Amino acid sequence: MDNRETFGSRFAVIMAMAGSAIGLGNIWRFPYIVGQGGGSAFIIVYLISTLVISLPIFLSEAVIGRKTHKGTFGAMQQLAPGTPWRWLGLLTVVSPLIILSYYSVVGGWSVEFLFKALTLGFSTGNEAEITGFFGSFISSPWGPLACHTVFLGICALIVVAGVKKGIETFSTWTMPVLFVLIVFIMIYALTLPGSGAGVDYLLKPDFSKLTASAVASAMGQSFFSLSLGVGTILTYASYVHKDENLLGSGIGTAGFDLLFALIAGFAVMPAVFAAGIEPAAGPGLVFETLPYIFAKMGASTPWLSALVSILFFLTILVAAVSSAISMLEVGVAYLVEEKHFTRGKAVAVLFVGCWLLGALCSLSFGPLAGVKIFGETLFSFCDKLTSNFLMAFGGLLFTIFAGWRMDRADVRDELRAGKAFRVLYFLIRFVAPAAIVLIFLTNLFL
Ligand code: PHE
Repeated sequence: MDNRETFGSRFAVIMAMAGSAIGLGNIWRFPYIVGQGGGSAFIIVYLISTLVISLPIFLSEAVIGRKTHKGTFGAMQQLAPGTPWRWLGLLTVVSPLIILSYYSVVGGWSVEFLFKALTLGFSTGNEAEITGFFGSFISSPWGPLACHTVFLGICALIVVAGVKKGIETFSTWTMPVLFVLIVFIMIYALTLPGSGAGVDYLLKPDFSKLTASAVASAMGQSFFSLSLGVGTILTYASYVHKDENLLGSGIGTAGFDLLFALIAGFAVMPAVFAAGIEPAAGPGLVFETLPYIFAKMGASTPWLSALVSILFFLTILVAAVSSAISMLEVGVAYLVEEKHFTRGKAVAVLFVGCWLLGALCSLSFGPLAGVKIFGETLFSFCDKLTSNFLMAFGGLLFTIFAGWRMDRADVRDELRAGKAFRVLYFLIRFVAPAAIVLIFLTNLFL
């Protein structure tokens, strides 16, 4: 433990954790599901689930990680040696690597789109051709594979440089810049004529849309967005110095993540409505709808279209990288601590493994589209398996572990939450696990 790296400051801890949290989930999923789920009515539910479910999971992972100063597997071995909890340790080494594999494919798309924006492909292109570009790009085999390789390579280079020199440096420099960029894009979007409809879409409370499945999707989104249940927060917390306040880091991370999601919503939706388009779900929103808008804009003001499109895809790329490195670090911590690999070798091995799975996911948009697992392409199978199931399952087990298996005194000492401890402990022991089980049941029956 003595020579284990730690983050250099409270700021660094929050930037690294916020870097993990802020990612594709904020930019393309949040704006869309808010509108679908009833605008501000949905945001209220999202806030409540972040407070009573996600924050307790976050704190459970953080307490386990900081107490042991080990990655997921080592932490379980130390706190519950010789018990089936080791499977939780192993599961949470594997699940972030599955996420990384398909996440890197999407990260790769943002590499290509940034390149296209830099070469003025959107600002000077014609609208029809640009709308079709995404579909033809992702179904072609080589381009996406090359971009997936570049994206994963960037992540590998950052992680191989170490926790402090790589992850901390990258996050502390890029997160503030990311905020400035997204705020700039938001201001631009809000000044477009007709953008008010996008603001309404996000804010107008519509309680009739707030169905049980909308509530479940608020909780699911909150998990995904805070990177919970897959050991990333646990692993980052294992690099947090004993003097840091975990509750403060948790609240800071959740606050930044929510703020970023809201700003991203106000950057994307007003532009979509100003262009008179129906908002699409998922990748279509940022990779089809927005390029179309950039092309439209390019017809009148090419320089502005070029500038905004470059900044926009740069934002997506950086947000995706800062999330992906947290997934990779979980596996690296495992191989270095438990298998005594050097950092370089660990990164190399995981690079190859994730590259292969990611390549298959990438090809599942084209040549391998016919290969189905439970009726899903490989990409969407990996996505659904992790975001609908493994994250919630891991989150459930982490709260049970911190709430029922760890010593209460240890949890209290790590949290140092004063009078709030009793409330937080109650949330960790009862409320969060019960709510997760409810989401499972809702998802199962709806
Ligand atoms: N929170 C990230 C996002 O919003 C995704 C993520 C999931 C990161 C799991 C790490 C672990 O895109």
